Amino acid sequence: MAVTIKNAYEIGMMRVACRLASEVLDFITPYVCAGISTGELDRLCHEYMIKKQKTIPAPLHYQPPGYPPYPKATCISVNDTICHGIPGEKVLKIGDSLNIDITVIKDGYYGDTSRMFIVGEGSILTKRLIQVTFECMWLGIAQVKKGAYVGDIGHAIQTYAEAQGYSVVREYCGHGIGKVFHEDPQILHYGRPNTGLKLQAGMIFTIEPMINAGKCDSRTMPDRWTVKTRDRSLSAQWEHTVLVTETGYEVLTVSANTQKPPDNH
Ligand code: MF3
Ligand code: CO
Ligand code: CO
Repeated sequence: MAVTIKNAYEIGMMRVACRLASEVLDFITPYVCAGISTGELDRLCHEYMIKKQKTIPAPLHYQPPGYPPYPKATCISVNDTICHGIPGEKVLKIGDSLNIDITVIKDGYYGDTSRMFIVGEGSILTKRLIQVTFECMWLGIAQVKKGAYVGDIGHAIQTYAEAQGYSVVREYCGHGIGKVFHEDPQILHYGRPNTGLKLQAGMIFTIEPMINAGKCDSRTMPDRWTVKTRDRSLSAQWEHTVLVTETGYEVLTVSANTQKPPDNH
């Protein structure tokens, strides 16, 4: 599949879809607390999307080759779950960390973003993994400009994550996005500088590093979606959808409560 270059109209449509995805995270934030189930968080997000936003939750019934249809509107990945956690009966407790990953479709265009949350006060280790993963995402974003290479993004992320004693999940990556949920190019979160695809203005893709406190190995659960760390170590992930511009990048998944980049950016 070829990499698509978005025109001005398509970029405008993507700005809207991506802002809406981010606004779902703003909406759900006050509900993330001890005692609520992940299924209830999903239900609230789903209702907000279809009733308030008139968006479609992209994960619902999404079925890539070799997968069963995804059963829920969001992915909620708690503690040692790396990604694609299926919301359900699990009740959040103080100290849990979780990723909520939202993808909406608005007028045929996809916006994809995720954030980390901690229930109550997290341990110093939990807070540090989440902060380092946030910095990894931003170090990747900072590489984005016309003429740079996809490998520059992965290299920046991998170098920092490993210097902090963490590991980068290899099996899942960022992706081109537009009128298709997952399209080329693949954005690996590890790699070598000056390798891979050369970035052109008008490309839109996600950067969504999954960083483990322990080893990088993962294991898929019998539901065939939920991915956990093999060694049960904590995992964290942040995701933005980013546009390549003539001078650098534009983060599209922004809304009122989007967290600012780290101080060194
Ligand atoms: N939102 C995820 C991503 O960042 C994809 C989830 S696929 C699903 O690419 F089916 F699990 F929702
Ligand atoms: Co994504
Ligand atoms: Co996502």
